[in-house]
Parts: sequence; C-alpha cells; structure tokens
Amino acid sequence: MVALAEEHGTPLVVYDEGALRATARAYRAAFDALAPDVEIIYASKAYFGQAMLRLAREEGLAVDVASGGELFSALRAGFDPARIYMHGNNKDAREIGEALDAGVGTLIIDNLDEVERVDRLARERGVRQRVLVRVTPGVKPSTHSFISTGQLDSKFGFSIEGGSAREAVDAIRAAGGLRMTGLHCHIGSQLFDFSAFGAAAAIVADFAASLGGDDIEVMDMGGGLGIAYTRDDRPGAIEDYAETVVEAVRGEWGRVGLPMPRVMVEPGRSIVGRAGVTLYRVGGTKVVPGVRTYASVDGGMSDLLRPMLYGAVYEPILANRAEAEPTGTVRLVGKHCESGDVLVGEASLPPVGPGDLVCLPATGAYGVSMASNYNGVTRPAVVFVDEGRSRLVTRRETYDDLVARDV
Ligand code: LLP
Repeated sequence: MVALAEEHGTPLVVYDEGALRATARAYRAAFDALAPDVEIIYASKAYFGQAMLRLAREEGLAVDVASGGELFSALRAGFDPARIYMHGNNKDAREIGEALDAGVGTLIIDNLDEVERVDRLARERGVRQRVLVRVTPGVKPSTHSFISTGQLDSKFGFSIEGGSAREAVDAIRAAGGLRMTGLHCHIGSQLFDFSAFGAAAAIVADFAASLGGDDIEVMDMGGGLGIAYTRDDRPGAIEDYAETVVEAVRGEWGRVGLPMPRVMVEPGRSIVGRAGVTLYRVGGTKVVPGVRTYASVDGGMSDLLRPMLYGAVYEPILANRAEAEPTGTVRLVGKHCESGDVLVGEASLPPVGPGDLVCLPATGAYGVSMASNYNGVTRPAVVFVDEGRSRLVTRRETYDDLVARDV
C-alpha cells in the first residue's frame, strides 16, 4: 500500500483483482449448486469502471445498468447486449432508444408512463422488447431508509398492494411492442437479515399466481446482500444468501402452484465492496483541548460520500505503521469546505501526523461511482492489484479535466 501510494499518489482506490474474481466465482458456484440457469447480474452502479465491467463479463456475469451512461459503459466493456438488464425509474426516450437500438435483452419497467413509452419506441423499430415488471411487495427490511426500496411508499416500481402492479401487467400484456417475461423486486441494500427475502418472495408469488397466464418465466430478486464494513458487522455468506433466495422462490412458487421460474439476482456491493480500499495521506492534525483531535486527509466526501449520506461507519488502518497499536481516537476528516465532511467520526488509530498513510477498507462499492468534484477536488486514480503486481485502470483526474466541459 505504501509503495502504491508513492507510485500513484493519493487518494488512491485499490482493488484486489483476485478478490473480485473469487467473489464473482463464489456467486456462480453457490447458485449453480442450487438451481440451473440462475442469472447473476452484476449491479454496475456499485462500481462501473471499465476494468470491473470487463472482469464481470469474463467471470460470466450479466450486467444491470440504470442509465444511458451505464449502458454505454457496459456495451463498451463488451457485454452481450442480450445479457444487459436496464433499470431506472425515469428512463427517457433517448435512453430507451439507445437500449432498443443496442438490442438490450431486458428492460425493467418502473411506471405506467414507461409502459406506453417503451411500447411506442419498440413498435417504431418493429421489435417486441422483453420486459420485467418491478414490483414493491410492501416489505420494509432493516437497513438505512435511503437504501430501502421495497416499501409501498417508494419512488421505485409498482405497488402490489395498491393495485398498480396488476395494472402494469395488464397494460404490458396488451402492448404489441412488449413481451412480459416476469417480475422483479429489490427490497433494499446492505441487508443482514435474510427473512425479508422470504417475505418478499411470498407476496410476489401470490401476486404471480393472481395474474394467470404463463408469461411469468423470470423472478428477479434484485441485490442487497450486506457486507462487513467494521469488525462488528456479521453479514451472511454468499452461499446462505443463495440458498435463502432460491429456496424462497422455489417454496413460494410451489405453494401457489406455479412452476419454478428462472431466478435472477443483482448483487453489486457484495461483489466489489470488500475488494476495494482507499488510501489517504494525512496532511495535518488539530487538537481541540478537552474535545478531540482532528486528522485531515487529502480526500473526503468527494470520493466517499457514504459516511455523510448514510452515516456509514468505516474502520481505518494506518498503512505505513500497520503493526502500531491504536492509542486513542481521532476524527478523520476530509478536505472539503463542509463541517459534515467526516470520513470516520471515531477512528481508533495510533498517533498520526503529516505524511501518514491511512487505509480505509471496504470502500469498493458506491465510493468511486458516487464521487464528485466538489471544491474542485480531482477524482482519485484506481489501481487493480493481483499476485504482487499492480496496474492503473483509471487515471487520476487532472485540473484540465475540471474545466474541459466548460464552453
Ligand atoms: N438492483 C437494483 C434494482 C438496485 O436498485 C440495486 C441498488 C442493486 C440491484 C444492487 O444492490 P446491492 O447488491 O449493491 O445492495 N449508494 C447506496 C446503495 C444504493 C443501492 C441502490 N440500488 C450505498 O452506498 O449504500
């Protein structure tokens, strides 16, 4: 880590390529052992760098995109369009057109206006687009409200309880440009308690049974498997998650007398989160007597928004003196003009000073992908390491990049 920081500068995001591949393979192996043909769809929003997208493709994963930009990135990385799944609660005509023209396999329909819009654009092109209907089963899992999506009062999807899901299915079945292939639900993210998956599957199975017809071939259960950000976090294993999801769908579909659908899942965080770390250089410290010590690093909310947005907790390591025992707590803060730009509120560290290198583990998901240029801070470089070798996969942003779009 010290050598990488010397070579590439800081802040620096470092991914362990072996860990990324191992997790992708663990997903494949876990689901293959339970049911044939489970589609594992990497949720690219978690980190959509080209190197990662290529890696996901090489490991046999499909990909979920949530905008024209993510679609472009996935196509650029060489994904078979048939295995691209396009999400979004407000896909505009241009994005839908781009998806149709690229031959994107499946669009996940999120609202009634979209039924009409996709149908029209598909008929204009003489195609019958495969679609899933995103439903909200009314399950509220225990996670931060900002990343909880399966409840009735949600901007995403169609409510089963409120009847709009039924309306959507009817409209799609009647639309000449659309082919209904199944249902989708994503109840939330960073989930440790798997019972919510079973509860969701039960509600969606009842709904599927109420629909009649034989066009519910797919049940996409979304993403959501949580990861450990701190020593105290105890997430479930991929194998247990796979078993929970597959057995929930198998059991519930059996209960309502429907044949087992093709199961799909959309993991994002659990594939990339723990494989990535961020390295920051301490610039200076400040003691507020009787209150606390602050240590300022050369990044912050512009490369890791999660602490600010969700109160997410990370546990830093002092990379250049990794064996040194923690002696107290410091508040690790970023360099932005915001009091809330706190990376770690109570960081347990040895004494730190200018030049020290702090490593924040488990920043691989929703760090780089949610980065900004606030305060004109350039976004970090990204490096992949594997078996003692490293390669730069995304260069650091430059000052010129900051002004390049200003006309
Ligand atoms: N599928 C759909 C439809 C989703 O909305 C999401 C995440 C996923 C899959 C992937 O979920 P995962 O396996 O990563 O939990 N920025 C937030 C997370 C937002 C999640 C949005 N949707 C964070 O940093 O915690």
